[in-house]
Amino acid sequence: MPVLVDSFGRVATDLRVSLTDRCNLRCTYCMPPEGLDWLPKPELLTADEIVRLVRIGVARLGVTEVRYTGGEPLLRRELPEIVARTSSLGAEISLTTNGIGLARLAGPLAEAGLHRVNVSLDTLDRDVFVKLSHRDRLKDVLAGLAAADAAGLTPVKVNTVLMRGINDHEAVPLLRFCLDRGYELRFIEQMPLDAQHGWTRAGMITADEMLAALRTGFELTDADPAERGSAPAELFLVDGGPAKVGVIGSVTRPFCGACDRVRLTADGQVRNCLFATEESDLRAAMRGGASDGELADRWLAAVRIKKAGHGIDDPSFLQPARPMSAIGG
Ligand code: GTP
Ligand code: 5AD
Ligand code: SF4
Repeated sequence: MPVLVDSFGRVATDLRVSLTDRCNLRCTYCMPPEGLDWLPKPELLTADEIVRLVRIGVARLGVTEVRYTGGEPLLRRELPEIVARTSSLGAEISLTTNGIGLARLAGPLAEAGLHRVNVSLDTLDRDVFVKLSHRDRLKDVLAGLAAADAAGLTPVKVNTVLMRGINDHEAVPLLRFCLDRGYELRFIEQMPLDAQHGWTRAGMITADEMLAALRTGFELTDADPAERGSAPAELFLVDGGPAKVGVIGSVTRPFCGACDRVRLTADGQVRNCLFATEESDLRAAMRGGASDGELADRWLAAVRIKKAGHGIDDPSFLQPARPMSAIGG
């Protein structure tokens, strides 16, 4: 089988599929309070088109992991159907979500064949949640997390983007909360992917700072690096293990050299990197009558030209035109 290999020899086996650019939160590191101009419905891939492309990825191009993202993927009504129709292909199917709606959907999604979920949780404080996301939905997120765990969508992973002066005082309580419930917490460096282009290096809490904050409450030791593989999270054993905490240092500790990801946007564009400047339009090709083989060839060509890394440190770095919500996290 041909594989999605780039000119540096990296092979993309992890497909991240954005199902919608819409979201029911307005996290400041992602979009402005008033929201964005959402993609018009006719431009979104239909459920049939998504299933067809995922099938091509898995059956013809060596994809072994499929992650549905957004925007907020739970807002896509056909999500259980899409999961059910792709879970039989043989790849691991996971979901990255803000958790709102998961209280109702965790059971049906597990039944449809979803394997696991990653849930964003940046704070345990209701006021901070409102300040950060412009919506009063912390309770829904916590209910969603509990439901995911109860439905067996495990290991449940939690994603926390730490921001200076907003939630950076919560590193220790957030880790305690997750340890108590058996969730794997990962702290994430904020990346320049917000629609408002408000990211600054000084506002970002670095991986080093995260670790220093955590060490005020816990003893951290390096986990077996073999466990990491090509995952973005560097793992640490907490108080001798087996519990772990992750740090995703995309900016100060980039992992591009081991990247195994490729993305499909909700409007059917292949992006070979979060920070790609070019996209390849599978939707137009598909709607123009391309065969599965032709779509696979187009996809292979799109991955081949992947750049070595994100280049955030280059003086010529330009933030991608699409914000995170329209790329898929
Ligand atoms: P696992 O398979 O559970 O390890 O998932 P994951 O951590 O890869 O995915 P998730 O969607 O939970 O993303 C966690 C964080 O990692 C988010 O901030 C993502 O934007 C970031 N991330 C995911 N993939 C990439 C990537 O390819 N490059 C960079 N720089 N960051 C990524
Ligand atoms: N930088 C880092 N992580 C981000 N996420 C969203 N925007 C950013 C950003 N600018 C995270 C979300 C979610 C995951 C998909 O990506 O918190 O957990
Ligand atoms: Fe891969 Fe691009 Fe992310 Fe680097 S920034 S890990 S190359 S998707």
